Amino acid sequence: MSLLIRNGEIVNVGSRIKGDVFVENETITQIGQNLEVPRGAEVVDATGKLVFPGFIDPHVHIYLPFMATFAKDTHETASIAALVGGTTTYIEMCCPNRNDDALEGYQLWKSKADGKSACDYAFHMSVTKFVNETESQLREIVADGTASFKIFLAYKNFFGVDDGEMYQTLELAKKLGVIVTAHCENAELVARLQQKLLTEAKTGPEWHEPSRPESVEAEGTGRFATFLENTGATGYVVHLSCEKALDAALAAKARGVHIFVESVLPHFLLDKTYAERPGVEGMKHVMSPPLRAKQNQTVLWNALAEGSIDTVGTDHCPFDTEQKLLGKTAFTNIPNGIPGIEERVNLLYTHGVKRGRLSLDRFVDAASTRPAKLFGLFPRKGTIAVGSDADLVVYDTNYRGVVSAKSQHTNNDYNGFEGMEIDGRPSIVTVRGKIQVRDGKFVGERGRGKLLRREPSHF
Ligand code: URP
Ligand code: ZN
Ligand code: ZN
Repeated sequence: MSLLIRNGEIVNVGSRIKGDVFVENETITQIGQNLEVPRGAEVVDATGKLVFPGFIDPHVHIYLPFMATFAKDTHETASIAALVGGTTTYIEMCCPNRNDDALEGYQLWKSKADGKSACDYAFHMSVTKFVNETESQLREIVADGTASFKIFLAYKNFFGVDDGEMYQTLELAKKLGVIVTAHCENAELVARLQQKLLTEAKTGPEWHEPSRPESVEAEGTGRFATFLENTGATGYVVHLSCEKALDAALAAKARGVHIFVESVLPHFLLDKTYAERPGVEGMKHVMSPPLRAKQNQTVLWNALAEGSIDTVGTDHCPFDTEQKLLGKTAFTNIPNGIPGIEERVNLLYTHGVKRGRLSLDRFVDAASTRPAKLFGLFPRKGTIAVGSDADLVVYDTNYRGVVSAKSQHTNNDYNGFEGMEIDGRPSIVTVRGKIQVRDGKFVGERGRGKLLRREPSHF
């Protein structure tokens, strides 16, 4: 199997060159100008188009038992949605809860993906308690190629860990050279504020944000950073949503703490007024940390542009209208999550690069290269280079469209970004050399995706 992508503008972090990319089997074997077409090679004309390394979503939920229900996607639906949107690798949160056995959970999450995903994938292993067997189980999971952990400071009594468990996780992660990703909100404060609001008969989705205010996220972020500082571990704050939390992360970074920051698509484009919409419309926009006051968006865009926000993920987590209505009498029962795996690249390109908020370089870095580097996938993924996997996105910047649930591949009956313009979309997407998408249509091989082994990074 060979493929020549001809005459595109090849975009890597730090370079843009006009040229051709030649792929044999699963790997990029040549990059240059006017490469010869060997007999039998398929040729894609990329004239006038950008050629990006396959995009990597570092934060998705696909199989997720959560809040009395399950997220809607399967690996089949989520991976097709990802690919149509230009994402060729995702990292799923493996989330057994406190009552589950970690190793059994890990096997279960793997079994849900095995042979189902059309794109490559990996897992962050959630540590939702720290008991006698945890250390040996985590060592086994890391030895199996899953070299990143996840902790939740939120979701008390379900996914959440206490400070002692956070300490033990970070101490072990430091020994193993594994990066720890963290959902940073103070669980106790969230629980108390939720109860207070409910007793005041404040039950609608508009009260979700006041139950987890910015200070609650800033406290979680600051505490995580302090624990990193005192264990020497390397951490990664997931879905950071606001200026106060960013300040806490950047203050820690300035004093030498090894901390990286991810923000996710909804927080750049949607604000808390979406969750204040009446009834189920508001519920569709409930996630945690919540959508924030609009002024935070400018702060996030600026931090992303300068690189103090490292990556952009989605926190893809689809619940349909019926599921959202589980919270119709109390916002605390609304399943948390806003899907975006299909929209991330196009919306980030449009509202970032095209609207002048983000350089093309930072766009590629935040959505592909930096996730690859942070999570042990580089240079196999995250760059267009000889020897790298041929995960390529030929991007049509002349395409014009709007996001709509009617045309989405995600398994859901609405789209949180409904009606937003997109100025560009992938015209060709390859996974290890095979064309999986042509102009918005999945044309490839289901189940092509592989679980990616990752080694500890020892930052
Ligand atoms: O609202 C969210 N973020 N749902 C998914 C679970 C999580 O906290 O990441
Ligand atoms: Zn989270
Ligand atoms: Zn998440």
